Amino acid sequence: MENKDLAELNEVAKEQKTSVAGSIVSESNADTDTSIDTMPKDNTTYKLKEYWDFRFTKEQKYEWLASYQDIKEVLSQHVQKSDKILLVGCGNSQLGPEMTQDGYENVISSDFSVTVIKNMSERFPEQKWVVSDVKNLKEFQDGEFDVVFDKATMDALVTDEGSCWNPNQKTVDDCFEMCQALHRVLKKEGKFLQLTFQDPYFRKRYILNPEIDWKQTNYHKVDTGLGYHFFVIQKN
Ligand SMILES: C[S@@+](CC[C@H](N)C(=O)[O-])C[C@H]1O[C@@H](n2cnc3c(N)ncnc32)[C@H](O)[C@@H]1O
Repeated sequence: MENKDLAELNEVAKEQKTSVAGSIVSESNADTDTSIDTMPKDNTTYKLKEYWDFRFTKEQKYEWLASYQDIKEVLSQHVQKSDKILLVGCGNSQLGPEMTQDGYENVISSDFSVTVIKNMSERFPEQKWVVSDVKNLKEFQDGEFDVVFDKATMDALVTDEGSCWNPNQKTVDDCFEMCQALHRVLKKEGKFLQLTFQDPYFRKRYILNPEIDWKQTNYHKVDTGLGYHFFVIQKN
């Protein structure tokens, strides 16, 4: 695809967005083969499935926010090697393969982009890869997982929130749907882990909606790159 396709996607994002983007998506990353050609001008483009499909036809590998090595220690405090783990919005991150290599026995990676799931399952055929939208996770059963991990996926959903002090209703609804789906597929006392760029003050209103029966049990600051936030939330 040529640049004009990305320009078209930017136009689609502009038409769909409800207000001016207030979020900053960080693409600072050393471990990448992303070229400037695949970076959208407008952050709202990150919400489009078509954008991700386009990007994944060009890009083989990109690690958002932090690598497995950066978070290995903190993950091991909350996840057992025998846990059944779902990675949502996995993209072409090496997280799933690296966790498996490090002894995690049951890791399933999912993303709504058919392109990336096809690419990753060809590159890592021994891993499980599933096309699934994080807003419903309908390919998975109730109570199936001990752990669900989101690394920078909700970050893509909040890119058109408008003002982070007063996010638009569409973003609030999208994040609520995502949390409901995560809650549904978790076992009782299962853990939702999230790594995000978004300041906890703003992120908590999305992930700790009182209508969802879970509670925050831990938080870590991850001091890599720009500095990120790691939440541990447990289903009651
Ligand atoms: C910022 S990237 C993060 C990728 C990867 N988790 C990482 O840390 O490198 C966001 C990912 O979320 C996926 N995504 C966005 N919206 C999604 C949705 N509604 N359902 C499933 N995946 C989604 C995109 O395809 C993309 O792979």
